[in-house]
Amino acid sequence: LKPIIIDVDTGIDDALAMSYALNSPELELLAFTTCFGNVSVEEATRNTLAVLEKAGKKVPVYAGADQSFNGRIKTRSAKHVHGEDGLGNTLTQEPLAKEESQFAPDFMVQQVKNRPHEITIITVGPLTNLALAIKSAPEIIPHVKEVVVMGGAVKVPGNVNAYAEANIFADPEAAEFVLSSGLPVTLVGLDVTMQTLLPKSKLDEWRAAGNEMARFLADMTQFYISYYESSYHDIGGCALHDPLAVAAAIDPSFVSTETMSVKVSIEGEEAGRTVGYPEGEPKVRVCTEVDAERFLEHFLSRVV
Ligand code: BDR
Ligand code: CA
Repeated sequence: LKPIIIDVDTGIDDALAMSYALNSPELELLAFTTCFGNVSVEEATRNTLAVLEKAGKKVPVYAGADQSFNGRIKTRSAKHVHGEDGLGNTLTQEPLAKEESQFAPDFMVQQVKNRPHEITIITVGPLTNLALAIKSAPEIIPHVKEVVVMGGAVKVPGNVNAYAEANIFADPEAAEFVLSSGLPVTLVGLDVTMQTLLPKSKLDEWRAAGNEMARFLADMTQFYISYYESSYHDIGGCALHDPLAVAAAIDPSFVSTETMSVKVSIEGEEAGRTVGYPEGEPKVRVCTEVDAERFLEHFLSRVV
């Protein structure tokens, strides 16, 4: 079993990634940690607990950063993409369970110290919690087994604007700090995630499955697909950004990578842009190709 911490800003595709991970027997899910991003950190924490409750699973949840690494970016709303509640306006009641009291970055540090060279951290939101963790305890850097980051757009345009992908845009300083830290990062960016489309027709199949979780995921994803249909002409589905990061942690053969150093633009019009250079250190693995068909099949066989 792979011990994993998944850092989320739950959001619709975060919820899909959670469900996929919860049903993946290869993973030992130590915790979900939450960050501001698609919604506020309080909403992300609530949504994460709500998804766990719908799934009938118990995994500890730790709340983390409510603003960017240096405090410059306080909020970032993606309500047009993920709905007023972050879950496609499907949330009907507050979850009963509560989060743990420890601050998410401190939990990350403690876990890596307890289990050196064992822990994989998957981030599918802004990189703030991980940046705070390695800032407070840089000695853990060589002891993290792997970091899989959903974020960036190295060879393709961004999704917030022509340059930046949303998770990097939400906290460019944190992203730069993590990508230049020497952590063993695999970057799962728009270069590959925009090739992983969930066709709308699958939602009816989920609803027909007849369980509450499947219906919830279908209703939620319907909202996300409507956003994609209005923003991308003729796309016929939605991108599975966050689930692909989980897939790459389960089985790296879903993607192929190129090794490069990645710099993040911090300010101005290009803030949040990720630029890859063949030279320079440290290097990270940037995913440049994906076996989208095999991934989709794998995802669909587990998500509901
Ligand atoms: C990323 O941004 C968020 O809106 C999604 O949840 C995903 O993590 C895609 O750019
Ligand atoms: Ca996300």
